[in-house]
Amino acid sequence: HTYERFNVAIDGPAGAGKSTVARLVARKLSYIYVDTGAMYRAITWYMIRKGISYLDEEQVDQVVRDLMIELIPEQDVQKVLINGEDITPHIRSLQVSGQVSQYSKLKGVRTRLSDLQREMALRKGVVMDGRDIGTTVLPDAEVKIFMTASVEERALRRYNELRDAEQVTLQQLEHDIAERDRLDEGREISPLRRAEDAILLDTTFMDINQVVEAIVSHCRTHVDEE
Ligand code: DC
Repeated sequence: HTYERFNVAIDGPAGAGKSTVARLVARKLSYIYVDTGAMYRAITWYMIRKGISYLDEEQVDQVVRDLMIELIPEQDVQKVLINGEDITPHIRSLQVSGQVSQYSKLKGVRTRLSDLQREMALRKGVVMDGRDIGTTVLPDAEVKIFMTASVEERALRRYNELRDAEQVTLQQLEHDIAERDRLDEGREISPLRRAEDAILLDTTFMDINQVVEAIVSHCRTHVDEE
C-alpha cells in the first residue's frame, strides 16, 4: 500500500555508528540520508583553513552567514561542498575532530545549519543523523532513535575505521571520544540529549545489520499506525 513519507531522526554520541546505520536505513526506505555532523565538520575545516578561531565568535558568525554548504548524496559517501569546493576528504581528520565541538557550540553556526537542515527535511523522506535532530532540528520527526554504545566500544569502532589513515592509538581515541561527549552534552545550545519520545538503542553488543533491522522494523510500526 502507499503511505505518506516521514522523517527519521537518529541522534547519539560520537562513534555510535549513526552514520553507517542511517545511510543503510535510508537506502532500505529509498529515503535521503543527511549527515549533519559532516556539515559541522565542513564549517570547522573551513574556519581552521581561514585562520578564524572559535574564540572569535563575532567573525565566525559573520563568515558562516554567507557560506554555501551543500550535501551531495552519492552511492557510498556523501560529498560536502563549501562554496562549491568539495572538501569531503578533509572533514574526518583528527584536527577537525579535535575542534568541531568548539565551533558547534556557537549560536551562529547552530542557527545557520539547523535552518539548512530543516529545509532539507521539508518534503519528508529524510533520515537525518546528528546530536540534536530529535530535540531541536526536527522535533516533529515521526521516528526518533537515540543510539549509544559504551565509550570503549565506540573508540574501537573509530580505531578500526581510522587506523589506516592516521597514526592513532586506541587509548587516544577513547580519550578524544570521552572529551567530545563531555563538550557535546554540556553545551548550552541544543546539547546532545535523548528526546523524550526517542527510542533508546544501546548498540554495544549489536552488529550493524541488527541495528538497521531494529530501526527499519520500528519505522514499519510507525507506518502501520497511520
Ligand atoms: O557525528 P560527527 O562525529 O561527525 O559530528 C561531529 C561533531 O559535530 C560532533 O562532535 C558535534 C557536532 N554536531 C552537532 O553539534 N550537532 C549535530 N546535529 C551534528 C554534529
